[in-house]
Amino acid sequence: MRTVRTVAELREALGGAGSGSALSGGAPSGTVGFVPTMGALHEGHLSLLRAARAAHDTVVLSIFVNPTQFNEQSDFDRYARDEGRDARLAEEAGVDVLFAPEVSEIYPEGFCTSVSVGGRLTEVLEGAERGRGHFDGVATVVSKLLIAVRPDAAYFGEKDYQQLLVVRRLVADLGLPVRIVGCPTSREPDGLARSSRNVRLSAEARERAGTIPRVMAEIAERVRAGAEEIEPLRAAAAEALGRAGVEVEYLAFVDPDTLETVADLAAPTRLAVAARVDDVRLIDNRLLTPPDTKR
Ligand code: PAF
Repeated sequence: MRTVRTVAELREALGGAGSGSALSGGAPSGTVGFVPTMGALHEGHLSLLRAARAAHDTVVLSIFVNPTQFNEQSDFDRYARDEGRDARLAEEAGVDVLFAPEVSEIYPEGFCTSVSVGGRLTEVLEGAERGRGHFDGVATVVSKLLIAVRPDAAYFGEKDYQQLLVVRRLVADLGLPVRIVGCPTSREPDGLARSSRNVRLSAEARERAGTIPRVMAEIAERVRAGAEEIEPLRAAAAEALGRAGVEVEYLAFVDPDTLETVADLAAPTRLAVAARVDDVRLIDNRLLTPPDTKR
C-alpha cells in the first residue's frame, strides 16, 4: 500500500488506472474502486473496502476529516484520528493507495467554491438538523475527491442514507463518470449501526443506544405484518426511546427516493432516526416493507 498526501502523488500512483484517465486520453490500465472516509475505520468501512476489493483492480481509500461538513466545532475537534491504526487496517483490507491529504491540499489558500445540491434532499432530516452547510461541505469535498481519484466506482454506506442520495444526485447532475455503489449498513451484534462515534459512548450509554435498532426493528416487524398507520408506531417508539434516556431529534417516515414525508406505510418507506445518547449523536435508518412488497 502506498500512502500519498497530494493529488499529484495520487495521480502518479494511479498511473493510467480509472475511468477519468481513459476519458482524458490516457491508456486505461484496470478499474479503480474508491472508498472515501474520514478515518477512524471500523467494520463498516472495512465492508466497503471488501466490496471495492472484490470488484476492482485498484482500491483507493481516502482519509480526510473534512472541516466544512461539521456543524459543531466540538464534534470536529473530538473526531477520532489515528492514521497509523487506520493505515494498518487499510493495508490488511488490501487497499493499494491511501490518500490522506492535509486540509491545505483540499482547500488551498483562496479556495472559495462550493458545490451545493439544492431541493428537498438536502433540506430535510440531517439538512434541517445540521443546517444546509453540512451537505454543501459533503458535496464539495466528495466532488473534489472524485475529481482527484477519478474512480470507476465509489462506495458509500447506507447508514448515511441521505448522504448517499445526495451524492447520487450530485453525480447525476454534474455527469461525473463514476458509479455510486450503496452498501448495507454494518451493525453490531445488538443491531446498533457501526459508527466512528460509537466509541464515545460510555458502557452504560452504549447499552441504552441498543434501544434505537430494537425500536426500529419492532416498527419494521409491525409494518411487515400490515400496520399502515404512522402515528401509533411513532408514539410507541418515542415512548420506548424516552424510557431508555435516548433523546430523539427526528423519527421520520419518508419516501426512499425523494425523502418526502409519507402519509401511511402502504408502500416501501425509509424510517430515519437521529438521536442523542448523552452527548453522542447517532443516526440510523432502515427500509420498511409492507406485506406483498415486490421491491
Ligand atoms: O461519510 C463520510 O465519512 C464523509 O461524509 C465523506 C463521504 C467521506 C465526506 O467527507
